[in-house]
Amino acid sequence: MASVIAFCNQKGGVGKTTTVVNTASYLASLGKKVLVVDLDPQANATSGFGVPKENIKAGLYECLSGSVHPKEAVLGTNTENCFILPSSPDLAGAAVELISVAQREFKLFELLQMVSDDYDFILIDCPPSLGILTINGLVAAQKIIIPVQCEYYALEGLSQLLRTILLVKEHISPHVDVMGVVLTMHDKRNKLSQEVAEEVRKNFPGYVFQAVIPRSVSLAEAPSYGKPIMHYKWWSQGAQAYKDLAIAILALHGN
Ligand SMILES: Nc1ncnc2c1ncn2[C@@H]1O[C@H](COP(=O)(O)OP(=O)(O)OP(=O)(O)O)[C@@H](O)[C@H]1O
Ligand SMILES: [Mg+2]
Repeated sequence: MASVIAFCNQKGGVGKTTTVVNTASYLASLGKKVLVVDLDPQANATSGFGVPKENIKAGLYECLSGSVHPKEAVLGTNTENCFILPSSPDLAGAAVELISVAQREFKLFELLQMVSDDYDFILIDCPPSLGILTINGLVAAQKIIIPVQCEYYALEGLSQLLRTILLVKEHISPHVDVMGVVLTMHDKRNKLSQEVAEEVRKNFPGYVFQAVIPRSVSLAEAPSYGKPIMHYKWWSQGAQAYKDLAIAILALHGN
């Protein structure tokens, strides 16, 4: 059975997708078989791996609506051992359709049960909201990683996210836990960035990964080439930071 980790923060643009794509590719390069689940109708993780649109016959929407088995929708990526369950803007429709479905919080969990034996890790890229898609991501996961951007307002919304996680834990999925917080877009020359990092560490003692992701042009450029950073500029600081994060996740996992 795979370890399922959801990357979640309802704040937009904090580095969730960048973290999922790059952590997944490094976990794969470290010998793990990894599936990325693109749970965001923006489909940024799908394009971040350079999956050509014409290769996508079906995506998460078709899987959630029951018309396609997830094994049929999974595609390979440009990274060996790393696979993706792709998304498309259609997925926004699932959020509406699920409203009237019984046990709607469990739909992704049920899907992932069908493929879980095929992978060591499943990483879920959540959308920037706390709606039904994200709830499905939290319910399907055993662990949650929260990317936090080192900017003013970084902590805003985190208490709401933690409350939501607690509700999921109490009412639906008792085994889900926060694995850690990843600081993203950190600029060591910027005082505000340092202060926010300190504030986050104060608020989440023992939970903040030592691997801090720097603000890096290379990390921002890589998706435009449809490549994880390890295939674009593996020598950059951003690449090293994501490799360190993957190693830390393996260590917490007991590998
Ligand atoms: N460490 C970084 N340095 C520089 N730019 C970054 C970094 N991480 C992410 N970015 C850029 O910031 C933007 C937002 O990142 P990303 O898409 O990963 O965030 P997100 O939380 O997934 O966004 P959304 O909430 O819309 O899904 C993107 O343009 C991305 O390329
Ligand atoms: Mg995203």
